[in-house]
Amino acid sequence: MKRLVILTVVLALFAVPCHGQRRTRAPRRKVVQLTEPNVTGAMSLEEALASRRSVRSFSNQPLKWAQIGQLAWAGQGITDPQRGLRAAPSAGSVYPIELFFVTQEGVFVYRPAEHSLEQLTDQDVRMALVRDGKAQDSVAEAACNIVVAGSVRKLSERFKEKARNYMLMEAGHIAQNIQLQAVCLGLGSVTVGGFDTRGVRKVCGLTRGLEPIYVICVGYPAGEGAAETAGAGAAGKKAALIIASQNYHDAELFDTKRVLDAAQVQTFIAGPRRGVTRGTLGGVAESTVLANRLAVNDYDAIIFIGGPGATEYFTNPAALNIAREAVRSGKVLGAIGIAPTILANANVLAGIRATSLLTEQQRLVQAGAIYTGFAVERERQIITATGPEAAVLFGRAITEALAGR
Ligand SMILES: Cc1cc2nc3c(=O)[nH]c(=O)nc-3n(C[C@H](O)[C@H](O)[C@H](O)COP(=O)(O)O)c2cc1C
Repeated sequence: MKRLVILTVVLALFAVPCHGQRRTRAPRRKVVQLTEPNVTGAMSLEEALASRRSVRSFSNQPLKWAQIGQLAWAGQGITDPQRGLRAAPSAGSVYPIELFFVTQEGVFVYRPAEHSLEQLTDQDVRMALVRDGKAQDSVAEAACNIVVAGSVRKLSERFKEKARNYMLMEAGHIAQNIQLQAVCLGLGSVTVGGFDTRGVRKVCGLTRGLEPIYVICVGYPAGEGAAETAGAGAAGKKAALIIASQNYHDAELFDTKRVLDAAQVQTFIAGPRRGVTRGTLGGVAESTVLANRLAVNDYDAIIFIGGPGATEYFTNPAALNIAREAVRSGKVLGAIGIAPTILANANVLAGIRATSLLTEQQRLVQAGAIYTGFAVERERQIITATGPEAAVLFGRAITEALAGR
């Protein structure tokens, strides 16, 4: 794994429609030309076997293309170019499996013949895999999820009733290769079989003939080494988390705060009055700052937490001024759940890509926001999120913005 690898990203125009998505005009698709795989790794197979263990919690450090390329090669790379044979065995060399890489940069399909990744979308759908694909949280945390999808049809003519078994066996071979390669790269991984097939297919934009079999989460194990670098640089920054007098959404507050705390951001809870307040699920938080006296300049980030109670800020002049002042002075401004409506009412979302709980969509649109409905949106220093299921990613986006990324 020592050789330096160089990446070339080729922007190309493709006239073909992308996987299962209709387009009215040719989309501009990114193709990532991966560099030659390393075939002289430092770790022995025995060491890799001995140290492989399922890892389900990951840091937010992204993977390099070279690492992703190495994983792709281990799973489906061509190892015998003359005969077109690949790293994993395949019944009759039919190769019914395709690998899809889901990262913060979008969804990519691996093209073994070119050893390249073709981008299907530039949207980060990891959270959607959890929400709509009913996959576990590890999927939202992992820097890279490899969706192993197979076409039983490709095998059925030749292998009849054995086709499906063969397809699943092949997926197992590929997954094992990828997990062992991950170990050699110093990465953690888990093979996830528990998800909603239709949901994952839809989120990744796969054609109906392709069945998602596995989602392999790969990333740096949480809390290891340089793992927290994505939030590094945010340490010591100050964030005010503004909650309602009651009925803030617990997860929106606590999950966001946990991510900020982990990045050593100093967090301050602000509310309409000082003291203990309860969330909708009974969680307890203590406000130490009065929201209507909050001095925006004392903080690097201002974050409005949602939950039914947050409506009290919708037309509150002090809250709206805080949002405006935050934008004027270039602070990071965040809002989650229903709270993006506060930003909409403060007139700071015009022309900005934003998201929120679906109930608020109209309000955001009326305020001129470009509503996307994605789990988390960031445009410039304004970060919005859909709700509790997006709180961890919301927290990460805030720490990255605080770190100047
Ligand atoms: C077919 C299959 C499906 C699996 N599905 C999941 C899953 O949905 N979620 C998960 O966390 N782990 C899943 N695993 C990982 C197992 O839980 C894990 O391999 C097992 O606990 C043994 O631990 P080890 O991998 O560290 O040796 C799956 C493993 C296999 C082989």
